[in-house]
Amino acid sequence: MIAVLGAGGQLGSAFVRLLPDDTVAVTRAELDLGQPDQIDIWVSATQPELIVNCAAYTAVDAAEGDPEAARRVNATAVGRLAESTAAHGVGLVTFSTDYVFDGTKPTGYVESDPPNPLNVYGSTKLEGEDLLIKANPNALVIRTSWVLSGTHRNFASTMLDLISKGPVGVVDDQHGRPTLVDDLAPATMAAVGDGVSGLVHLANQGETTWLGLAREVAEIAELDVSNVKPITSEEFPRPARRPADSVLASERLAVLGLEQLRHYRVSLERAVEDLMKVSS
Ligand SMILES: NC(=O)c1ccc[n+]([C@@H]2O[C@H](COP(=O)([O-])OP(=O)(O)OC[C@H]3O[C@@H](n4cnc5c(N)ncnc54)[C@H](OP(=O)(O)O)[C@@H]3O)[C@@H](O)[C@H]2O)c1
Repeated sequence: MIAVLGAGGQLGSAFVRLLPDDTVAVTRAELDLGQPDQIDIWVSATQPELIVNCAAYTAVDAAEGDPEAARRVNATAVGRLAESTAAHGVGLVTFSTDYVFDGTKPTGYVESDPPNPLNVYGSTKLEGEDLLIKANPNALVIRTSWVLSGTHRNFASTMLDLISKGPVGVVDDQHGRPTLVDDLAPATMAAVGDGVSGLVHLANQGETTWLGLAREVAEIAELDVSNVKPITSEEFPRPARRPADSVLASERLAVLGLEQLRHYRVSLERAVEDLMKVSS
């Protein structure tokens, strides 16, 4: 039996849709990762074959004001999951982020590039990666980026709301790879099935800026694309600094014989159509 942590989130719910019916969907109510001491008790009581950890403190700006809360979930809890799964012979896959990089490499980051996070969220996710790799060499950590789905509040759903109301400024100086949960979840399970461990970058092909992505969302939804106006990150100050160029590339996928994810555009169309159905 597989247990999905963070089962109510964007990515967690994609795994719940994908995996067999006996999959256990675990929410914060069943296991609060903010209480890391509960983890080993839960793992030994539940004894799944595999834990897919999609739970995380993902509020990038809020993390700046509450680093300890972010660290408990993104670092301490991931370390405890790694120790506990190693001790009980349970498989573990967890997720990290392009925000472990500072965004100064224009050609795409591969797994061996040195991380240098600019914000608390990225630092805590990086700490979680390190703890995991030390405690459980069989576990897998997948770095992904700009996660989107057709089911949850995300950048695409926010843009659908804003663009339909009038002009909106969107930052045009941050580059990345939008990644759709319904592509990421099956690719993750393929990697797990092949026994892949350690660190792997997995993001949809194609890269854009938030402005480019907002324009594509508008185009797919047949909204007025001219409502999307370019602004700089300086013109849109936020508590957490973001990397300018955090495109994730991979030097491991080909070596491992794993397929690249397809271009994000195909899945983006489906996700935007689904989001439009939810909001109508
Ligand atoms: N979103 C992105 O753009 C992005 C980019 C790169 C990497 N990632 C990574 O991808 C993974 C999945 O992200 P996502 O977009 O699916 O995030 P999400 O939609 O925000 O979901 C996160 C889930 O974690 C749960 N959670 C938070 N704190 C918890 C706690 N203390 N105990 C138990 N559960 C807790 C949340 O439950 P509640 O509903 O109860 O809060 C929610 O179900 C994360 O590891 C994230 O860091 C995301």
